[in-house]
Amino acid sequence: EERYAADIEAIIRLKKQHNAVILAHNYQTPEIFHCVSDIRGDSLALARAAQNIDADIILMAGVHFMAETAKLLNTEKKILIPDVAAGCSLAEGITAENVRSLKQAYPGVPVVTYVNSTAAVKAESDICCTSGNARKVVESLNVPRVIMIPDEFLARNIQAETGIEMITWPAHCEVHERFTPQEIRQYRRMHPGVKVVAHPECPPEVVEAADYSGSTAQMIAYIAEEKPEKVLLVTECSMSDNLAAEYPNTTFVRPCNLCPHMKCITLPAIRKSLENLEAEIVIPESLQERARLAVERMLLI
Ligand code: 13P
Ligand code: SF4
Repeated sequence: EERYAADIEAIIRLKKQHNAVILAHNYQTPEIFHCVSDIRGDSLALARAAQNIDADIILMAGVHFMAETAKLLNTEKKILIPDVAAGCSLAEGITAENVRSLKQAYPGVPVVTYVNSTAAVKAESDICCTSGNARKVVESLNVPRVIMIPDEFLARNIQAETGIEMITWPAHCEVHERFTPQEIRQYRRMHPGVKVVAHPECPPEVVEAADYSGSTAQMIAYIAEEKPEKVLLVTECSMSDNLAAEYPNTTFVRPCNLCPHMKCITLPAIRKSLENLEAEIVIPESLQERARLAVERMLLI
């Protein structure tokens, strides 16, 4: 579209000028996702990509914790986030002090921390996970009980899948916690035959009411493999927007819940960030090593 053209052109020029790459999460709007990003994916794919990027600057078109994870894996590179206000209700839902209290209450129980968390919280953890590998990570520990933070619903969904007991923390994703099983039943009545795919940050009753549950990348793989005629992606709005163009034979029913944090990232914000080389992610040295270990342990699985 014409209203985007000047920003897109400027961003492409600035990327060349600074030897920068743009990583975009699947929840970014189509003009960012399709027109200016170099690497796209779920949280796990973006973390893996950040591990071996050949560039001087990485701009994260996503939220703050994703930029921090990229920084942990690339301490010598400049990592930019176009808007420092792009947070996450999960990352803001628990502090390092809270994790220390949990560890005191349950000595010896391993702490599995969802990447949707601050570096300070990761530094208190044994291993990280994403929604794409949570089951594998938890099972790899070979224990009957884990502390799984901060997402209570992800923990309960993984407990249902694995039978491993979860000590949880009451933090939720403000986007996915709003979906209800009633809503899903209503969509099924309105769209007979619709396949329902729910993100594991949704309440367990919602995941139970769905046909499939997985990370945003696993949702894409499901559509590519199953080629459903009609699908309801129970997740952030931009997912369906981004996929609609690629899968013209699938009808996307859209129960739209926006993530205000993801939507802080816009083309003008990306352009400005590359012009001023701001805001740069800085992680206190005292946290870097321990937080990186938790992420690296996950990436080995
Ligand atoms: P994934 O892309 O890893 O499924 O994460 C979803 C999410 O809510 C990220 O903020
Ligand atoms: Fe956080 Fe949910 Fe937004 Fe993802 S969609 S950034 S989990 S608030």
